[in-house]
Amino acid sequence: MRANGFKLGVQSAAFTLALCGVGQAADAGKGPISRQSIESKAEYCLICHGASGQGFRGYFTMPRLAGQQPQYIENQLHAFKEGRRVNPIMQNVVTAVSPGMIRPLADYLRGLNAPPHGGGPTEGAALGKRIFETGLPDANIPACAVCHGPDARGTRQIPRLAGQLYWYVTKTLTNFGRERGQRGEDSSGIMAPVARNLSPAQISAVAAYVSSLK
Ligand code: HEC
Ligand code: HEC
Repeated sequence: MRANGFKLGVQSAAFTLALCGVGQAADAGKGPISRQSIESKAEYCLICHGASGQGFRGYFTMPRLAGQQPQYIENQLHAFKEGRRVNPIMQNVVTAVSPGMIRPLADYLRGLNAPPHGGGPTEGAALGKRIFETGLPDANIPACAVCHGPDARGTRQIPRLAGQLYWYVTKTLTNFGRERGQRGEDSSGIMAPVARNLSPAQISAVAAYVSSLK
């Protein structure tokens, strides 16, 4: 209980700070973006996403960004900005990120190498591994590895899942079609039907598996 209270406290402080636009000023100027302004913008992101980008579990689960594919990060930031992906927190946050900052920031986050956050349930991980590697043809579920790669590290617009938080993966797969991909015009449309076919037990199993991967 005490630990939870502490986490919540930290997180609401982080929220107040973060939503007050601590990160706003650094990239306002014109010209090439300095290493220093990239780092200071990244610091702003890591208030919520965990000090090493490993993710954070509080009232809301903050996804892991460490080692994430830059093209995927870039796509998601644009999707939040344009309202194609719905999340009130990130839709607010992206207003503090200039277009020229997006790619350098994504490259910076990709370079972070944090161990998995862990701590989620591990039951079902063996089934999760099977779903990930071979799919469940009878249930019309493709092998995740075909797109996300055998080690779940993703490629270009396909996200890394290795080390992603259990709670974020379950929430995302459960709500996928309500939060993104509705217009079917971006890369979210590729994933939406896969998410729709997964049962809650399969979602939990695959989340237990990928969240443990380095
Ligand atoms: C106030 C807290 C907060 C701050 C600050 C914040 N984020 Fe987020 N971010 C979130 C939350 C919460 C989500 C999960 C959204 C969801 O559940 O769909 C998220 C999701 C994301 C995603 C989608 C990840 C995925 O795997 O799909 C990206 C990319 C992202 N944030 C990048 C950033 C960047 C870059 C910054 C800094 C400019 C930043 N965030 C700052 C809270 C924050
Ligand atoms: C045909 C290719 C393809 C297959 C097969 C596939 N995915 Fe995906 N997946 C994607 C793409 C593309 C995205 C990025 C969607 C976006 O841009 O919003 C994605 C996104 C995701 C996300 C969201 C990650 C995040 O950080 O928010 C999760 C979770 C996910 N996939 C899990 C799975 C699982 C589990 C399977 C296997 C059951 C699977 N995927 C199979 C292409 C695929």
